[in-house]
Amino acid sequence: MTSRRHFIRTSSLGALGLALNQQSLADEPDYKFKPIVLSTWRHGLAANQAAWNIINSGGTALDAVEAGVSVTESDLTNMSVGLGGRPDRDGFVTLDACIMDHLSRCGSVAFLQHIEHPIQVARKVMDQTPHVMLVGEGAYQFALESGFKRFVGEVPTAKAKAAYDEWLKKGEYQPPANVENHDTIGMVALDSHGNLSGACTTSGLGYKMHGRVGDSPIIGAGLFVDNEVGAATATGVGEMVIRIAGAHTVVELMRHGASPQQACEEAIDRIIKKHPDVADKQVGFLAINRAGHTGAFGIRKGFQYAQQAETGVGLYDATSRL
Ligand code: GLY
Repeated sequence: MTSRRHFIRTSSLGALGLALNQQSLADEPDYKFKPIVLSTWRHGLAANQAAWNIINSGGTALDAVEAGVSVTESDLTNMSVGLGGRPDRDGFVTLDACIMDHLSRCGSVAFLQHIEHPIQVARKVMDQTPHVMLVGEGAYQFALESGFKRFVGEVPTAKAKAAYDEWLKKGEYQPPANVENHDTIGMVALDSHGNLSGACTTSGLGYKMHGRVGDSPIIGAGLFVDNEVGAATATGVGEMVIRIAGAHTVVELMRHGASPQQACEEAIDRIIKKHPDVADKQVGFLAINRAGHTGAFGIRKGFQYAQQAETGVGLYDATSRL
């Protein structure tokens, strides 16, 4: 377990080191940032590739994360992201997403139905409104006015409907702790200009109460970016993430000197401390800083993340507390 006292003792020194490190990055005209894309779960591999194609050709991290998670949203075989997702307990597929860039601009949609790309609507909220978050029918109307089309395919999909019908036999709410692709895609990226952005999108926990919104569209919970420090995103049981303002906590820990890995571990420890019963529950955090260092940590084994950089592509098992 991270030694809290040791961390506090060293954090001011760490903060100084971080400040000096970032100062030197900014002062060095020839400094080459090391672009990297990081995202949650196996579905992150295909998403990262789309994001990397943009970053690798000099594009922005913002465009990259939007394009990256859009790949996952379009995959109707994925039952945790996009319109292929599991419905809520009343049979409706409702989507949550948010996006944030290096200027701390952000946009979000929640409880959105019938739209294939909630992340792109979130980007429009960010770019074209004075607001950060639109929900439900208002978000849907805004999407239509912005040129998005109502999805004409079958929703829930046949696969999600079959799973729902099976669930209805018992109607118990028991989210699986670690089923591959069970959850959100959260993506954070650093581009060659030294700018960070992130995106997060999900259909939320399967068979949730109608109207339930998780962490994924909440700036500071499912996603947070501060270009002076780093970026973080979350996956897992959204309520647990919201209670500690998860992604913001990770970034703030980095601001005060923690490495991305230490920050993810400290945030998970905070969740465990505040939730005495974490049996069968999973939360995972991913983080990067401007130097391209990464962190990943879960409550329990099973959390995987995908990474793509000049050094290669990979799917990794995050370390965990349990
Ligand atoms: N992390 C996704 C959710 O709780 O909805």
